[in-house]
Amino acid sequence: MKIIKTANYEEMGLEAAKIIIEKVRSNPGTVLGLATGSTPRGVYKYMVDDHQQKATNYEEVRTVNLDEYVGLPETDENSYHFFMKQHLFNHLNIPKNQTFLPSGVAENLDVECKRYEKLIKNLGGVDLQILGIGRNGHIGFNEPGTSFKSRTQIVDLAESTRMANARFFTSYEDVPTKAITVGISTILDSKEILLLASGSSKAEAIKKLLEDEANEQFPASALKHHDQVTIIADEEALQLV
Ligand code: GLP
Repeated sequence: MKIIKTANYEEMGLEAAKIIIEKVRSNPGTVLGLATGSTPRGVYKYMVDDHQQKATNYEEVRTVNLDEYVGLPETDENSYHFFMKQHLFNHLNIPKNQTFLPSGVAENLDVECKRYEKLIKNLGGVDLQILGIGRNGHIGFNEPGTSFKSRTQIVDLAESTRMANARFFTSYEDVPTKAITVGISTILDSKEILLLASGSSKAEAIKKLLEDEANEQFPASALKHHDQVTIIADEEALQLV
């Protein structure tokens, strides 16, 4: 795994945005795998600024997101559909029908999982996948114990994940208990992966990722089975290595 160390959150966002923009400029039909959370927000800000200043063209780009909460419709401010529109899609010239997220309100969630897997396959797979990392090592919403062979699935969220994400909701009880997420195997099918981490709350996770053997109790360690992974992390996230 290649590591790019940055001074802080802003620089992490800038470095990641540069790689994404370069990819889009060299391959206008790129399939981007996108993530939500506080970590990629800075990346999206730089992508939006760049688009406004230098007119990087997203007309042919396709995007697939990692995950969505079960039970939250697109209009819910805490849904990942809402997040992506608010922070990225509404500010780029990407056609709406080229941005994909799994639905957390599909009538049949198992059918939705299969549909989403097929959709990614039909797009030709993900060229560049952006990942954050949970404090417990989750990627997407794949919690500790998830099989490295997993494909898109419905998962129960760990209590620690619900607590970490409660800051966006009115109360802890409002945080959904389930999510739909691409699987670890789905993530590993991406041609290239950028994992981002910022701040001391991620330091333990980054240490484990770099030092431990791959094991299913620490989902991000599956990335050791991929040969095109770059970690972009700031000094605080790298403070224990
Ligand atoms: C969420 C998302 C993950 C994200 C992680 C870290 O639960 N499902 O994709 O990487 O939590 O979030 P943050 O970047 O806000 O720390």
